[in-house]
Amino acid sequence: MYALLPALAALLLAGCHNRPPVIAGDYHSYSNPHQALVRHLELDLEADFAGKVLKGAAALDLVRVAGDKLVLDTRDLKINKVEAAPETGAFSETGFEIGPADPILGSPLSIELPPAARRVRIRYSTSPGASGLQWLEPRQTAGRESPFLFTQSQAIHARSWIPLQDTPGVRITYTAQVRTPAGLRAVMSAENDPAAPRNGSYSFRMPQAIPSYLIALAVGDLEFRSLGRRTGVYAETPVLERAAREFEDTEKMIDAVEGMYGPYRWGRYDLLVLPPSFPYGGMENPRLTFATPTILAGDKSLVNLVAHELAHSWSGNLVTNATWSDFWLNEGFTVYLERRIVEKVYGPRMAAMEAVLGYQDLLREMEKLEDRDEILHIDLKGRDPDANVTQVPYEKGALFLQDLERAFGRERFDAFLRGYFGHFAFQSVTTEQFLAYLRENLLEPDRERAARVPLEEWIHRPGLPAGAPRPGSDAFEKVGAQAARWLKGEIPAGELPVESWSTYERLHFLRALPEKLQREKMRQLDRAFALTRAGNSEILQQWLLMSIRNGYEPAFRRLEEFLGSVGRRKYLKPLYEELVKTPAGRSRAERVYGQARSGYHPIAQASVDAILKR
Ligand code: BES
Ligand code: ZN
Repeated sequence: MYALLPALAALLLAGCHNRPPVIAGDYHSYSNPHQALVRHLELDLEADFAGKVLKGAAALDLVRVAGDKLVLDTRDLKINKVEAAPETGAFSETGFEIGPADPILGSPLSIELPPAARRVRIRYSTSPGASGLQWLEPRQTAGRESPFLFTQSQAIHARSWIPLQDTPGVRITYTAQVRTPAGLRAVMSAENDPAAPRNGSYSFRMPQAIPSYLIALAVGDLEFRSLGRRTGVYAETPVLERAAREFEDTEKMIDAVEGMYGPYRWGRYDLLVLPPSFPYGGMENPRLTFATPTILAGDKSLVNLVAHELAHSWSGNLVTNATWSDFWLNEGFTVYLERRIVEKVYGPRMAAMEAVLGYQDLLREMEKLEDRDEILHIDLKGRDPDANVTQVPYEKGALFLQDLERAFGRERFDAFLRGYFGHFAFQSVTTEQFLAYLRENLLEPDRERAARVPLEEWIHRPGLPAGAPRPGSDAFEKVGAQAARWLKGEIPAGELPVESWSTYERLHFLRALPEKLQREKMRQLDRAFALTRAGNSEILQQWLLMSIRNGYEPAFRRLEEFLGSVGRRKYLKPLYEELVKTPAGRSRAERVYGQARSGYHPIAQASVDAILKR
């Protein structure tokens, strides 16, 4: 159904040696890549912090197939001028039209292409409210002296800062020229030069073809520290040391994946620590993972996030979901790989605990989901793809792969995955294409084992198949037993072996408790674990949730501080959701949000707005 048009195939095969892309029908993009395909982007942007806008030009190289129009995705862009040029030759102005704005998709930008046109250049600027940008005041940063800008393009926000074919089915290379105020450093999801002079002018080159959602830029008072042969970290000075210590195992993680799934194909792997308003835990921007500072726990207990974003260098960045309905191909595979990395670097005990926590999250979330949202190959027509960020593509996807691993054995399944990453490298694939490859290379050669995996159910039905793998952890069993004893009053909180517990065990202990706890029990816990002062963001968030549920006032100041400083959506959503359940909680939520909202990222604002019905 998604077959490449023969004309395009012939053109691409004649014109270049890499494999022609298969372009899936993506209803989250207005673009027409099957008529005019963008292959390369040349960006030239100035970051204007006073006006909170990016302004400049995007030049796009095209392969023409049919028709006389190029349709691009845009959202809230101000288009000043559009020009077209032949392969070699000068630009001249051409006609364009901007279609009506759809609240989810933005506006199509339709450009007239003269017959010989092979390049277009768009002069434009972004709007201060661009959904893919956050402009931070100095007080929102670690250093508190310089402003900060970062992009978040996934899922469909690249179009709010670059006019392009904003679909993961199209891959492009890019170069960029970025001008910043003097003293600030710009970094991108591209080749970065840590030794570049901080003169306010930076050039970048991304020679590997990537989908638009992986184009990323950050500008701030950033320093660099090397972590190993091909790894390093960018952060503001006050967090640089801490970040370097936290991430010291990164090189080992790369070695671990390479041993299982083939070479790391992106050259360097660096991390960028963002200010706390970053709306996600991490974002796998190629060569430069963006990460929240809330994972800097001081004891490497949350670095599974690095394993996760690194794993995307294979599952997601190398082999990419062709549409947002295929998102589970990115995230399910990545969670599976993440746990395999954790198992290799930190041991099976750790990996098992992580799998149980993920499984619990999945079951809890599915209680609230509609059937259609529990399907791996999800239908998102008419919906915002950011709404697909549930545990289903992540944890159900990973369980499906674990089921295949169980049926075929680790050795054969790993060989299959290695083959998959090699076969589809630098391509975008649909669920159908994955399934065809799976049938041919794993299932059909061994029908007996294949019969153990209910493929159809995994991909197209809600819930979990009967007999799905069920993660378990001995360590958690023990913790669960201790929790039961403490609840019954058989042991005092002070005698719980809290000190010997890892972060995951502490988290499991707290989650194993009933929703309603007496005030005295809350106080005992707080004393034994120092929970209100917890420095670990996962523990703290869990405790704050419990404190809201139980009206535990001693934690409320910390709660307000947390909501006022951290913008990570995964933390904010459950806290606000819990608050609005009571009238007192709702008015606290409204007061805090009134102060905090302007400091949240547009993506987090949209989520909290929906909870508070603003
Ligand atoms: N690619 C995602 C983040 C994302 C998903 C951004 C969808 C926009 C739309 C990233 O790899 C991710 O999954 N991050 C997780 C962390 C991970 C350890 C599960 C997060 O941010 O919490
Ligand atoms: Zn991910």
